[in-house]
Amino acid sequence: MHSPQQHAQLAEAVAVLSRGGLVAFPTETVYGLGADARNADAVRRIFAVKRRPSAHPLIVHIGSLSELSSVARQVPALALRLAVRFWPGPLTLIVPRGEGVPLEVTGGQETVAVRVPQHPLALELLHRFGAGVAAPSANRFGAVSPTRAEHVRQDLGDEVDLLLDGGPCEVGLESTIIDVSRGYPQLLRPGGVPVEAIEAELGEAVVRDAEATVRAPGQLASHYATRAELRVVAPGELEARAATLLERGLRVAVLAPAGTAIPRVHESLFVPADPAGYARALYESLRALDDRGVDAILAIAPATHGLGLAVSDRLSRAAAPRGDAPRD
Ligand code: TXA
Ligand code: MG
Repeated sequence: MHSPQQHAQLAEAVAVLSRGGLVAFPTETVYGLGADARNADAVRRIFAVKRRPSAHPLIVHIGSLSELSSVARQVPALALRLAVRFWPGPLTLIVPRGEGVPLEVTGGQETVAVRVPQHPLALELLHRFGAGVAAPSANRFGAVSPTRAEHVRQDLGDEVDLLLDGGPCEVGLESTIIDVSRGYPQLLRPGGVPVEAIEAELGEAVVRDAEATVRAPGQLASHYATRAELRVVAPGELEARAATLLERGLRVAVLAPAGTAIPRVHESLFVPADPAGYARALYESLRALDDRGVDAILAIAPATHGLGLAVSDRLSRAAAPRGDAPRD
């Protein structure tokens, strides 16, 4: 399945992780910046390279469900049910922290985030390494997450010891995070598995409330930021909003689902109108518009069913006032 070159790279990646180095690797959601989750020094390097505050916990990636008990102190019934149904896949579960997971990984919390990713290179890496790999998205703190190897190269360059290139990410935005550590399922971040699918599997509603922002440190209002100022607008407002920005002499871009009628602006990018297609194209499109040097991006959100909820969440965080608040 993997080329001879990939086999050699995978062997090197295992060696790098084993000596406490950092490996950027593809997952089906976004590229991750990985370190041996048992090695506190290696994990501290992730925070240094990302310039990420140490209280923002990381996700531990494992190769199969059978490794969950090595990371979790106890596996709640809800966790098992969701893991059996959705792993490998873009679902992260918050469970009680096992002793082998240093507090550096969890930002001092007694819970840990875990998932089994679906990308074949990630799975092969995790199987060969045989232990958990702590990995946040492989971008600088606050920036748009990388969905291609070249994005990682642009953002982190030489600060990564090894970069595995697995092509463009299928899902295109981060995993859904569900906290199952309290006896009921709570959504901490919408993502690659639609909440509807989780509710259908459990036969019960997933709790979504404002408290989630506090419970998932790093889920700050301003996040996934473009250099250009981004605004989410309704299709009916597009023309007037564009006119106002153009009058101010700004270079204006529009990001919209295919088929949307748009006014004359400097740059425009159409993404697939279905929510999954929009999700796959989202981060790459935001990077492309930034690369074209626009000052302002007017984005039309997709419908909020399926992956549309996660797309809308990321767009609104990219649009949030930045101020001097920390971002991730
Ligand atoms: O798709 C993904 O999840 C990607 C790929 C690389 O797997 N990873 C990713 O990691 O998005 P990161 O670090 O960018 O986001 C991790 C999120 C943070 O918002 C953090 O707050 C939350 O997971 N998290 C981690 N541990 C947690 C915990 N113990 N309790 C609550 N939230 C936690
Ligand atoms: Mg991130």
